[in-house]
Amino acid sequence: MTISFLLNGETVEIEGASPTTTLLDWLREDRGLTGTKEGCNEGDCGACTVMVTDMDEAKALNACILFLPQLHGKAVRTVEGVSGPRGEAHPVQQAMVDHHGSQCGFCTPGFVMSMVASHCNGATDHDTQLAGNLCRCTGYAPIIRAAEAVEGQPVPVWVKDAAPGGAPDPMLPRSSDELARAYAARPEATLVAGATDVGLWVTKQLRDLDPVIFLTGCDDLKEISIDDHTIRFGAMVDMNRMGAALAPLHPSYAEMIRRYASVQVRHAATVGGNIANGSPIGDNPPALIALGATLHMRHSERRRSLPLEEFFLDYGKQDRAPGEFVEAVSFPRQPDRLKCYKLSKRFDQDISAVCGCFNITLDEGTVTAARIAFGGMAGIPKRAATVEAALLGRPWSCETINDAKSGFDADFTPLSDMRASAEYRLETARAMLERYFAESHGATGNVLEVTA
Ligand SMILES: Cc1cc2nc3c(=O)[nH]c(=O)nc-3n(C[C@H](O)[C@H](O)[C@H](O)COP(=O)(O)OP(=O)(O)OC[C@H]3O[C@@H](n4cnc5c(N)ncnc54)[C@H](O)[C@@H]3O)c2cc1C
Ligand code: FES
Ligand code: FES
Repeated sequence: MTISFLLNGETVEIEGASPTTTLLDWLREDRGLTGTKEGCNEGDCGACTVMVTDMDEAKALNACILFLPQLHGKAVRTVEGVSGPRGEAHPVQQAMVDHHGSQCGFCTPGFVMSMVASHCNGATDHDTQLAGNLCRCTGYAPIIRAAEAVEGQPVPVWVKDAAPGGAPDPMLPRSSDELARAYAARPEATLVAGATDVGLWVTKQLRDLDPVIFLTGCDDLKEISIDDHTIRFGAMVDMNRMGAALAPLHPSYAEMIRRYASVQVRHAATVGGNIANGSPIGDNPPALIALGATLHMRHSERRRSLPLEEFFLDYGKQDRAPGEFVEAVSFPRQPDRLKCYKLSKRFDQDISAVCGCFNITLDEGTVTAARIAFGGMAGIPKRAATVEAALLGRPWSCETINDAKSGFDADFTPLSDMRASAEYRLETARAMLERYFAESHGATGNVLEVTA
């Protein structure tokens, strides 16, 4: 496999590297570009942030969980490549100096690269843009001031990259058809979508994954289609694009996605990967199940569809045959009644302890349909069938809610782990149903909106 991309404006070609070499290791060890730092090596701290330009836009990404083949045909810029040809500082670098945005400096290249990418894209929601960068000593206020100071300043021409494109390779299929053929021929291969799970299998578990098939180039799997009846996301739609598409339709879902990891991880993580990994604490499956989603699978030329909840058979076990992959997920267009409640120890950049998604339909004060799904309450994402049944046909009242709450004990036997105890999980599930009820009567439930 020959991998080629632009690195700080110059073409590089890499032959014979292991397909799971991370960009971070390659930059530091093969290129001597040690400005990109290694902190956690698992996507949490942002010290390794680089800017990658593909056909869509410039994106901040974590180099520690980015494999070299994922960069094929793209343009990469590291902190060594953001100052001008005569050594002039990028406006972000100057602002970090002017506003005292750095102390020990270890986090600084990562912050600078996140800020360079958001400056390129004109993003000004700095708290969100920088939620994936951790600083232990400066404090965030000077850094945010630096980010604010460059708002509206022109983007220097020298950081405007264009993705050059790359030569075809069988392990880098460019469409669902090519992927179907490649995977049917090598059903033992590991599929890599955004690598926000698979990356950690390599960096933390030191697993050898060869053969690997990368889905990065399958542009038709990145399609989002929305018509009067159906909303459909291709498996390779990343979390940032998914959140933007959902914002006008199901704002609570979009807000949950805003709290999904960080900008860097959301640029990489895909909806297909978040479903296919079968995690009981993935954020998308409960929301999608509550919306009545259908999963679209493909093996060679054969396609099949199934209700999403039927895909999750047991902990670590999904209804997926060797050589079969997730092609898309879709759900019916519907009036927005969805609320997604993500409970995690930290507001930003944290995995859910419990994620409860409620989609309840009322007709003249009576419950006519109820779809409630949870993550973090069982070994798989799962519907609260007893609670749903206890609501159906009943008046939408405190009494009904109180009666239905006991159903959670029948529906779930959660685990106690480092995120939450079993009792706490059950208690919060009950509280989430009460919250949905209270919000349906105009109460404010979002902690960001509660005022004293
Ligand atoms: C720092 C950090 C924070 C995170 N925070 C969250 C969070 O808040 N909420 C959350 O839900 N998750 C979170 N995650 C987990 C991770 O982002 C998700 O599980 C992610 O959606 C996986 O998608 P991916 O595209 O990166 O998948 P990959 O890592 O590429 O793949 C994951 C699995 O799915 C398989 N796969 C991928 N695509 C397909 C396909 N189309 N068909 C069949 N199999 C496929 C792969 O072979 C692999 O087994 C976090 C991860 C990190 C590193
Ligand atoms: S080293 Fe921490 S996110 Fe990459
Ligand atoms: S300046 Fe020391 S970690 Fe941020």
